Amino acid sequence: MSPAPPLILGLETSCDETAAAVVRAEGEAGARVCSNVIATQHELHERYAGVVPEIASRAHLQRITPVIREALLDAGVAYDDLDAIAIGHRPGLIGSLLVGVSAAKALAWSLGKPLIGVDHIQAHLYAGLLDTEPVQFPALGLVVSGGHTSLFRVHHPLEIESLGRTIDDAVGEAYDKAATILQLGYPGGPKLDALARTGDDRAHDFPISMLGKDRLDFSYSGLKTALLYAVCGKPVGRGAESHFQRDASSLSETEKADFAASFQRAAIGAIMKNLHKALDRHDVATLLVGGGVSANSRLREELKTLGEQRGIDVRLPAKEFCLDNAAMIAGLACARFAKREFDDLTLSASPRSAIT
Ligand code: KG4
Ligand code: ZN
Repeated sequence: MSPAPPLILGLETSCDETAAAVVRAEGEAGARVCSNVIATQHELHERYAGVVPEIASRAHLQRITPVIREALLDAGVAYDDLDAIAIGHRPGLIGSLLVGVSAAKALAWSLGKPLIGVDHIQAHLYAGLLDTEPVQFPALGLVVSGGHTSLFRVHHPLEIESLGRTIDDAVGEAYDKAATILQLGYPGGPKLDALARTGDDRAHDFPISMLGKDRLDFSYSGLKTALLYAVCGKPVGRGAESHFQRDASSLSETEKADFAASFQRAAIGAIMKNLHKALDRHDVATLLVGGGVSANSRLREELKTLGEQRGIDVRLPAKEFCLDNAAMIAGLACARFAKREFDDLTLSASPRSAIT
């Protein structure tokens, strides 16, 4: 009788979500999610309109053990049933990553199980392979998150080639900044997305970045500045005296919605333009998408249309696998487990991704 497919506990603490999940490997590149627990810290960072690293690390420390226990309980498994412990060890906030890395090492050592460190960005690309049918490789990979906007050629979940990336802001970061300009609150991306659905996306003609016909890179700082000037006017005065002519509080709800919809048209337009370019050059059957912005309603609609137009299999992850989660970490670790690629207890955290 062949042994049962491996059961892996994954941990994720790279930013402001403390997450643990149990998955079971399935086939060559796929995994079934047995539990997926996410404790978000949004309420702790809301008043600062952004993630405060020190607060994030402390909250991870308080939450990690209960979150792991809940993930095991939900999956109906015990520590002894696990075959490996996986951790997203890069990229992210170093203090936050270290909480997860220390917890994963302690578990692996005390249980005598293998430790597997995975790259968070690479894991985002795995989200579309969770709880679903196998895909055909090579694939094109798109990661759109708060810290990354990158395109890849994915030969296999463990073999990834970078094709392009943002040269300034990430698209999620641009959404969050645009939401701040429009005074929509935190976290900005989902709020701007919801408001944009009620606005006229042709009300304003914001720039869609063009970085040369041969490049597959992105740029979002021009779009952000264009929105800032359209909403607040150009800065008046110099140095410490400099100020904007107005702010978003003078806008009606309809005007705000029109700004949001027009921003969203340009932000998503830049992604779609680069995807078309990449598909013209790369003969792939599949598009893997991941990262928080893959929860965006307009992007999801446009990606579905792209799939139909180009005859490719677009893997849009279920919403719970778009944002930071540990199921994608454990899922990617299944591929490492199959190759017996383990880490030892010298595994460390890094603020940078190994693949972008
Ligand atoms: O992948 P993720 O959870 O964390 C990072 O690895 O960065 O992505 C978070 C980002 C944030 O910038 C958030 O505003 C954005 O994803 N986001 C969205 C939506 N949901 C989350 N942006 C646009 N539309 C959404 N519906
Ligand atoms: Zn992420």
